[in-house]
Amino acid sequence: MTSENQPKAGHRETPVSTEFRDFMASGWAADDRPPTPRAEAADPAARRREALSQRFPGERLVIPGGGLKVRSNDTDYTFRPHTAFAHLSGLASQAEPDSVLVLHPGIEGGHEAVLYVRPPAPRDTEEFYTDSRYGEFWVGYRPTLADLESELGLSARHIDTLEDDLAKDEAAARLRVVRSADAKVAELVDATRTQAGTSLTAEQQEEADGELAHALSAMRLVKDAWEVGEMRKAIAATHKGFEAIISTLPEAVSKGRGERWVEGVFGLYARHEGNGVGYESICASGDHANTIHWIKNTGEVREGDLILVDAGIEIDSLFTADITRTLPVSGRFTNIQRKIYDAVHAAQQAGMEAVKPGNKFSDIHAAANKVIAEYLHAWGLLPEGVTLEQTLDPEHGGWHRRWMVHGTSHHLGMDVHDCQLLLRKDYMDGELKPGMVLTVEPGLYFKADDLLAPEEYRGIGVRIEDDVLVTEDGYENLSAAMPRSSHDVEAWIARVSGSAESR
Ligand code: GLY
Ligand code: MN
Ligand code: MN
Repeated sequence: MTSENQPKAGHRETPVSTEFRDFMASGWAADDRPPTPRAEAADPAARRREALSQRFPGERLVIPGGGLKVRSNDTDYTFRPHTAFAHLSGLASQAEPDSVLVLHPGIEGGHEAVLYVRPPAPRDTEEFYTDSRYGEFWVGYRPTLADLESELGLSARHIDTLEDDLAKDEAAARLRVVRSADAKVAELVDATRTQAGTSLTAEQQEEADGELAHALSAMRLVKDAWEVGEMRKAIAATHKGFEAIISTLPEAVSKGRGERWVEGVFGLYARHEGNGVGYESICASGDHANTIHWIKNTGEVREGDLILVDAGIEIDSLFTADITRTLPVSGRFTNIQRKIYDAVHAAQQAGMEAVKPGNKFSDIHAAANKVIAEYLHAWGLLPEGVTLEQTLDPEHGGWHRRWMVHGTSHHLGMDVHDCQLLLRKDYMDGELKPGMVLTVEPGLYFKADDLLAPEEYRGIGVRIEDDVLVTEDGYENLSAAMPRSSHDVEAWIARVSGSAESR
């Protein structure tokens, strides 16, 4: 729902006098900005549209950017466009709410890309200074249709023409829409298809839309060189954010509610370096590390604890990193922390080594999970008499999974869990191909109240997560510059906190 759907706050409405209206309409300098230069993302987006065009010949494809989402009453969250829209339009963090990209089928094959937007109101209109949602007096500069055309290399039209354009010619019955992006646009597409006398049942229409969503997810599986470059930038920014966290650990301890302090410091870097965090940061100290998605971040950061930070910066092109480091707050692991950390590190290394073309995606988890099981078995944590083979039996085993309940990998890109709409055969059972980017992120979690864990393990949680590119003959750890062995992490903390002290 967008804020348009909220009841109006009538008590704020002020009558507009003719004198005021006339005065506001005058005295503004002409807009003499040069044409917007072509965006770096324009060519990659054009190539993706071409691939999509070939996949759906003769069909009209509707990819909404989505609208604002209400945070509370009449205030909205910061806008972030739907990923498929950003991927295909080249408009990312600067996209305007309620835009819609349409690929219209051409008479001689191919498609014409048209971006439907609401252009800025001229300065002699009331919208300019009274409309808190669209008026430039309130929200700042908004691109004109000409700006968008020169920036993106496609046609741009007023959003008010969308309805008629969807209904024109026989393609009105052959529409597909990304349903989840904007409910109102999905409704409009449904109505248009029905009016045009589509032969598809409602169920078949939804299935057709599902195929489009699936195809869009599949298109993001293999990243091109430009996309990999963006991933590198997101990871480099995230690296800086983690170093800022290391520098601030003493303050996080001394201020109280240190997890929030850590979250805030990373968030500052995320907004400064990029568009924001790619997902809610997990800043989990002590036993909180054993809550897989601990995003409340309300806890203390204490000397002697491990703090697990799972965080990533989404840069302006919307590509995001997804990195976890588990850091000893005092700079040194205790013996038992190191024992658990090193086991997770060994599992992660085994997972990474399974990253190579021809292997299945699920081989990564299998390799990491096997090492986790071996350690737990060797430490005597599996029930009496359970062998390694038995616990690794996917149908009847799984005791080791008590201490690592999550998967080891997911695809990564513009969405932190990228390509989520793929079917199992293309995801878990899919073959790894050069250009895929994925995480490798095993962990071990011993909750404070886990009576089946040795007492000295309880309250320790470790995850290590890196972002890995599948190459022609194996993998490249894109986040390799961020230390990850226990020894290297200690040296990293000493170096970064040493340089923080000397500032
Ligand atoms: N931060 C979520 C994940 O690692 O998948
Ligand atoms: Mn993560
Ligand atoms: Mn992850």
